Amino acid sequence: PNPVFTGEKVTLTCSVQSDSDWTRYDWYKDNTFNHNRLSQYNRTTLTINSVKESEKGLYWCQGISNSRPTSSSISNQVTISVKALPNSTLSVEPTSPYTGEKVTLTCSVGSDSDWRYKWYNNRSINAVNQSDRHSTTGDTLIISRVEESDQGLYWCQGERDSRPTSTSISNQVNITVKAKPKSMLALTMNDDKVSSDKEDILTGDRVTLTCTVESSGWRFYWYRDRPDSPPVTITESTYTFNPVSVSDGGQYWCRGGRGEPPYYTLNSDPVRITVTERPVAVLTIQPNWTQIFIGETVTLRCVLLGGGDTDWQYEWFHYQNISQTEPEYRISPVRTSHNGSYRCKGVKGRKTSNHSNVVQLTVSVKPKPVLSVSPQWLNPGDSVTLRCQVKETSTDWRFFWYRNVPSDRSYTFKHLSDDGTTEQYYTLSPAGRIHTGGYVCRAGRGNSFYYTDYSAPQFLWSGDLPSAVSLTVNPNRTQHFTRTSVSLSCKKKGNSTGWRLMRYTDRGTESGCVSYRGTIQGSTCNIRTTLIQDSGVYWCESGSGENSNAVNITVTDGDVILESPVHPVTEGDTVTLVCKHRTNISNIIKADFYKDGVLIRNDTTGEMTIPVVSKSDEGFYKCTSNEGESPGSWVTVRGENSCVCGVCV
Ligand SMILES: *[C@@H]1O[C@H](CO)[C@@H](O)[C@H](O)[C@H]1NC(C)=O
Repeated sequence: PNPVFTGEKVTLTCSVQSDSDWTRYDWYKDNTFNHNRLSQYNRTTLTINSVKESEKGLYWCQGISNSRPTSSSISNQVTISVKALPNSTLSVEPTSPYTGEKVTLTCSVGSDSDWRYKWYNNRSINAVNQSDRHSTTGDTLIISRVEESDQGLYWCQGERDSRPTSTSISNQVNITVKAKPKSMLALTMNDDKVSSDKEDILTGDRVTLTCTVESSGWRFYWYRDRPDSPPVTITESTYTFNPVSVSDGGQYWCRGGRGEPPYYTLNSDPVRITVTERPVAVLTIQPNWTQIFIGETVTLRCVLLGGGDTDWQYEWFHYQNISQTEPEYRISPVRTSHNGSYRCKGVKGRKTSNHSNVVQLTVSVKPKPVLSVSPQWLNPGDSVTLRCQVKETSTDWRFFWYRNVPSDRSYTFKHLSDDGTTEQYYTLSPAGRIHTGGYVCRAGRGNSFYYTDYSAPQFLWSGDLPSAVSLTVNPNRTQHFTRTSVSLSCKKKGNSTGWRLMRYTDRGTESGCVSYRGTIQGSTCNIRTTLIQDSGVYWCESGSGENSNAVNITVTDGDVILESPVHPVTEGDTVTLVCKHRTNISNIIKADFYKDGVLIRNDTTGEMTIPVVSKSDEGFYKCTSNEGESPGSWVTVRGENSCVCGVCV
């Protein structure tokens, strides 16, 4: 044949058309000029039994005779081409099988099909017939349940009826059979490898079971509680619980499986997972006030619910982790820097509780309460209410009430009731003696009493005469023109020294006479030239702690004043109100009088007399004339009978 495949037999025939006897035939290959004589062949046929690649080439022949002509002409030239046999490749799966596993050998030929395969190993010419565990289909040889005796070198070759009738011999594959492996099971919790069983795992952790076999190509079968139960799951690699819950607890095994039907490794050792409920941290604050003031004391307490045993440590957070490991965090005294939110959690080795709730600490500067006195002017028989107000959002206060008792130069605070009140109101009842003068309050709370600042003083005045100390005004009226002189006289029963003159204006409280540009003459303070700023409430304080009646003086720079009584008048008295001009001293002017804004007399001769005054005449009076309008003044009328034990007739 031509072309011819390596290993085939090829025959070349030389024939000469002549009657002569040809004693021999010479055969030539390749080079025409340098005749490469194949002298060993001298017959009419040249047979090459198993062609090699190197035997391809150009062939020709020539007949040789003993008689003339001694040689024939050179024959035609024939080119023999030699083709290589198709390659066969042997592969095996799995490359390194375990006892009992199925092994598949595949013989593949690059080109055409219709091959039959011959299987060899180094122990037998025919590997297939070794045992009934061997079977072939097409290009595969399957060894079911491989054994140690199947170890060795394997190769294959394809063959068929048409040319080329065989493939080359395949590569050799070495099959080694290993003992059945055991799967290894490892447990990790939140990416940390843990030795199983000892660690308790808490709900919410991420738990991963990892099954490994020394070789590749495995899927993993997971068993829970019983290794011979159906697998709970089959995974490609790991079995993860994220987050793990209590019901995931139990004993676990794994094994690898590969192939179809699966070939299984031995079971791993079991791993026990014990999941306990994660403790819940609860943060409380004591006392539970929304607003805390600088200097107070608070205690934060972190309690672990479901924490079980005791040896937990605590972590505290205030913007960041703070160095505090006890379950109780006492802050004393509270400072501004303690403001903000707090959280805690429990830590024990690798275990942590949940983060607690957030507790908000709102720190404010020490409050100063605001005191109000109602009414400010004492009516005999009526009670007086003091009110002490601290910042609206703070709670649990106790209120402490003090009377501002004048002493030689300053004041002492005298408790009205020693243990304070829970109410922000305090009533001065007429049954007791109500003292005129200044009052202050403050509030306190907490176990180790924390006190606010004192409030600013507030005053309670009495306009009534007589009292132990009395104040009289000259000229004896409430309203005064500016740039005139006014004298204020303090009289103390028996002794008229040791007093001081107080005044209250919208600028605050002042004491002394000189400070009002006055001069002292005995027990009298003379203000020579009045100013509008001298308007205010005046009273005397004695060094022994008593207050006089108070008078409310109005100084006006207008041209009209109303002359009205400085002190309360008693029912039945005769009261004369006079409208005065700054320039007209004689009083003979025309004036209108108003009470509580209503015109009650007009066109008078400048004065209005109420012959028998009654309670209904009490009110706010003013007068007008062609020169202008006077300021208003309050006229107080007292009942004829004084009040006894809070009952007034
Ligand atoms: C003093 O009298 C004036 C004028 O009547 C009044 O506006 C003021 O409130 C009084 N002051 C006090 C403290 O009662």
